[in-house]
Amino acid sequence: MKAIQYSQYGTPDVLEVVTLDDPVAGPNEVRVRLRAAGVSPIDAKLRSGALQAHFSLTFPKIPGRDGVGVIDQIGEGVAGFSSGDEVCVAADPMRSGTYAEAIVCAPSRVVKKPSNLSTSQAAALLQPGISAWISMCRTARLSKGMSVLIHGGAGAVGSQMIQLARHRGLNVTTTCRAANIDYVLGLGAHRAVAYDRDDFSVLRHFDVVFDLIGGETHARSYQVLKAGGQLVYLTATPFENQAGQYGVTVTRAMIPDDSEALHAVAQLATEGALTPSVMTTLPLADAADAHRQFEAGQITRGRIVLNIEDGS
Ligand SMILES: NC(=O)c1ccc[n+]([C@@H]2O[C@H](COP(=O)([O-])OP(=O)(O)OC[C@H]3O[C@@H](n4cnc5c(N)ncnc54)[C@H](OP(=O)(O)O)[C@@H]3O)[C@@H](O)[C@H]2O)c1
Repeated sequence: MKAIQYSQYGTPDVLEVVTLDDPVAGPNEVRVRLRAAGVSPIDAKLRSGALQAHFSLTFPKIPGRDGVGVIDQIGEGVAGFSSGDEVCVAADPMRSGTYAEAIVCAPSRVVKKPSNLSTSQAAALLQPGISAWISMCRTARLSKGMSVLIHGGAGAVGSQMIQLARHRGLNVTTTCRAANIDYVLGLGAHRAVAYDRDDFSVLRHFDVVFDLIGGETHARSYQVLKAGGQLVYLTATPFENQAGQYGVTVTRAMIPDDSEALHAVAQLATEGALTPSVMTTLPLADAADAHRQFEAGQITRGRIVLNIEDGS
């Protein structure tokens, strides 16, 4: 099979196109013949070595958290899936990823592909979807009618958070660049603040802030919460915890790949409540370019998706 892999941490130049033997499904594993892979921030952060303190990789490493394809081999002991099933994959970051023509993984890491999604959309569903779902349905204590501020609403996670928040009956404000205001309003946000033009920190009385940005954005988010409010963050950047000063709680959303989250996200997509955003598609061989675009801050309005099945 064709795949992208790297044998050392470094710039996107370490990503190489290689030809490997097809992996074989062992007991309690399925093999998925992949059609497309989503390019997530964690793929680039793992490749650069920025997450070495959290994940110790075995080289060579095939990157890729998100993928979509068709099951073509079922290992002994697997129930609930058949050869020919179209599935979305959430790959283990420590093992071989989805930038390849095939992947072998545990059945708990696959869910049936929502039939209403295109191949590219399905490749962009799970990693941002479970991040949004776990943050909003497990970490934050939300109830209908609450007012939430979602930073980074034009990103892959933020766009799914906006849709999920509307689905849960919340009042949604989001931040994005000025050029994306109409886009995030179209996703369902009630109000959008342009981070490159206006100051969100003059707003007040939010029940919950979801921070996907960190840094200055995090520091200025305490004052917009009401007393007793919640700041939920998904970033790894260090920050000064001002919770005591403002009488709020600060909680990191921990995002495990559990089967309940994968199924909840796939179900919401099937119902039409969640539609993942795709910025553009590239051939698998252009994975290094995709990572360069991410690192240059050019990713907006969803994921880059790598096309695998066209043989490029
Ligand atoms: N396990 C975890 O903890 C976990 C899970 C998922 C995500 N994350 C993290 O969450 C972050 C977002 O992930 P993602 O996949 O959604 O990334 P993404 O698709 O690359 O989106 C990033 C978005 O950030 C927005 N942005 C940049 N600067 C901003 C600012 N000052 N204010 C508001 N928005 C700003 C950009 O908006 P514009 O396009 O409008 O400029 C861009 O769309 C990443 O840092 C990721 O690593 C962590």
